[in-house]
Order: sequence, then structure tokens, then C-alpha cells
Amino acid sequence: MKKILITGGAGFIGSHVVRLFVNRHSDYHVFNLDKLTYAGNLANLTDIEQAPNYTFLKGDIVDAAFVDGLFAEHRFDDVIHLAAESHVDRSITDPLSFVYTNVVGTANLLNAARRTWQDDLPNHLFYHISTDEVYGSLHNPEEFFTEETPYDPQSPYSASKAGSDHLVRAYYNTYKMPVVITNCSNNYGPNQFPEKLIPLCIHNIAHNKPLPIYGKGENVRDWLYVVDHARAIDVVFHQGKPGETYNIGGFNEWRNIDLVRLLCRIMDRKLGRPEGESEKLITYVTDRAGHDLRYAIDAKKIMHELGWKPSLQFEEGLEKTVDWYLSNTEWLTNVTSGAYKHYYQGQYESR
Ligand code: NAD
Ligand code: TYD
Repeated sequence: MKKILITGGAGFIGSHVVRLFVNRHSDYHVFNLDKLTYAGNLANLTDIEQAPNYTFLKGDIVDAAFVDGLFAEHRFDDVIHLAAESHVDRSITDPLSFVYTNVVGTANLLNAARRTWQDDLPNHLFYHISTDEVYGSLHNPEEFFTEETPYDPQSPYSASKAGSDHLVRAYYNTYKMPVVITNCSNNYGPNQFPEKLIPLCIHNIAHNKPLPIYGKGENVRDWLYVVDHARAIDVVFHQGKPGETYNIGGFNEWRNIDLVRLLCRIMDRKLGRPEGESEKLITYVTDRAGHDLRYAIDAKKIMHELGWKPSLQFEEGLEKTVDWYLSNTEWLTNVTSGAYKHYYQGQYESR
């Protein structure tokens, strides 16, 4: 049985990737390495935690000696690297944590993989999960990010992700390590930490709290259902060409204000409120510093070369997401109260 290391598997996207690999690929033993920061939550994985091909490893990718020891002990065959600090607003107040985890952490994994795989490099794969935010901000409505778009990151988060992407490519070029990188647009769906726009609004609508819209709400994002992203990662892991980059997106651009209004309408219906009730919670607030205007992905390469495409329409995905949050109120309450950090107390200490 092959051994795959998935980092950041207790987080939002990582938990969906871990679940998919554990359930679909019995030829792999899945090792989930996660520090369990505020964003890591093992309650995301209760359905598969007893699976015979799954092991959780608690640890910090910034700790080089720890990462080296882990690779020496387990000799992972392949890596899918998702662990990161992922929230732009946090990167504005605490950029250094992003440099440590996203840049130094990625370098530590690359070094440990290179050392472990040096005698048979071509038999391994280091798959790095990145974001469309590395391409910067689009101002011309006709433009889309392609795999050839030059990097132009604008926030400390996207700059740290760009740094990690460059390192991964450097290991391909310099050491011939087989690598692949995907740059995906904004994900949404079950298990997303309620600091990001969609789960934050679902939570606030449910609790009749203000919906903070940065600036005028005219910034545009492309949204993809998280399970569709996990499917894309599976496809690229198995069929992607080493050295290549693939953009992943939902062909689904929304201005923030239009998205939040749609969410309000769905929530009014689900909560049995009169139409227009939740929209009253919309509150315009000070804009995010350096707020990127628009992200838009051209995902034709992965569609044409690897045959992946999104499976869900946006409204359908949003409905599923709202249903999940409304029927998992305990998850949301634990996350917003901090109780989830005590959930596994005694088993794993947490920050
Ligand atoms: P997340 O914040 O929900 O999860 C990140 C996970 O990484 C958490 O479980 C956390 O505990 C873990 N982690 C953080 N620092 C660590 C460290 N030093 N050592 C070990 N583990 C650590 O993030 P997410 O939204 O699931 O994003 C996952 C990846 O996908 C990230 O690399 C992110 O840049 C990328 N991405 C995210 C989106 C999005 O819309 N969320 C879009 C494109 C790409
Ligand atoms: P977010 O979910 O933080 O993702 P990202 O910044 O990586 O795109 O934000 C999505 C968009 O929503 C972004 O344009 C910022 C905006 N936003 C708000 O208007 N209000 C909020 O409370 C948040 C969290 C985001």
C-alpha cells in the first residue's frame, strides 16, 4: 500500500480531500498532518477517523526537524500540500505567520521530500495546492487568469502563497523533483471556518447579526463548491503532468453584494422569514486594505486536458451549504465559541 501525506487535512478543503482519498483510494494509506491551528478541526473528519487506511499526525510544518523525522519514519510516497494560513484579513494584521507557515513550511516539506526521494525521484509527486490570488487583481472585465498570467500578488497572504509556488517550481527546475501546482478560485461549502464571507453570512443571518460588506460590495470573486475542488485535486494527482500548473475555477463570478443578497433570499426561505427580511442585515463597512477588485479563472486547461469540470450550479451548491450549516448547528456553535478546541482534549493538545 502506498503512503500519501496530506497536509492541512483538518482544515476546510483538506478535510474534503482526505475524505475523498480515504474513501476512494484503498491503495493508499492517508496520513493527515495538521497543527490544529484555529482553522483545524478534527470534528470535520469524524466519519472517517476509524478507517483502516487513515492516520492523523499532529505537528507543525514550520518545525524542520519534526518534518524531517516524520519523513524518515514513514517514507511517504507522495505529498498533497494544503496546510497554510489562509485568510487574507488575518494576513493583514499578522503577515509573519503567513511567511512562516506558507513559505518556510513549504520549504521544509520540499527539503524532507527531496531527501527521502533522492534515489528514485521520478516515482514520487509533490502536489502543491495554491490560489488564484497569486495572479493579483483584474481590472478589465474581459480578462481572465490563465496559467500564463504573470504572478502579481497584492496581499501578504497571496504574496506568501506566490513565494511557496515559486519554491515548488524551483525544486522541479533545480532538482527535477516531480511537482504539480493548482491555483483555485474561492471555495465554499460545508466545514468552512466562519471567518470567510459565505459561512460568516450564514452564521450572522441565522443569529440576526449584521452582514459586513467591505467597501461598496462590488469586488468580484469566482466561487467553486469545495467537493468539486477535491474532485479536481484527485484528477490532477492521478493524471496531471509533472512540472505543470492547472487553474481550477467555477466559471461562476459574483459581485459580493449580489452573492450576499442571493444568500439572504435562500436563508429567508429556509428559515421561514418574509422575503427581504435578512437583507436588512446588510451593513457596509470600511473596505479591506488593498482589497483586490476581481478574480476570474480561465479553467479551460484542466477541462480540456484532464476532463474535469464543476458538477454543481452555484444556487444548488449554496443551498447544500446552507442546509449543511443549518443542520450542523453544533459544529458552528463549537467553532464560534472555541469549544472545538476542547473536543479532543487529552488526545491532542492545541494552540
Ligand atoms: P484552512 O485555513 O481551512 O485550513 C488550513 C489547515 O492547515 C488547518 O487545518 C490548519 O490547522 C493547518 N495548518 C496551518 N498552519 C499549519 C502548520 N504550520 N503546520 C501544519 N498545519 C497547519 O484553509 P483552506 O481554506 O482549507 O485552504 C487549504 C489550502 O487551499 C491552502 O493552501 C489555501 O491557500 C488553498 N486555497 C484555499 C482557497 C479557499 O477558498 N479557501 C482557494 C484556493 C486555494
Ligand atoms: P473571503 O471569504 O475572505 O475570501 P478572499 O478574500 O480570499 O477572496 O472574502 C471574499 C470576498 O468578500 C472578498 O472580496 C472580501 C469580501 N468580504 C466582505 O465583504 N465582508 C466580510 O466580512 C468578509 C470576510 C469578506
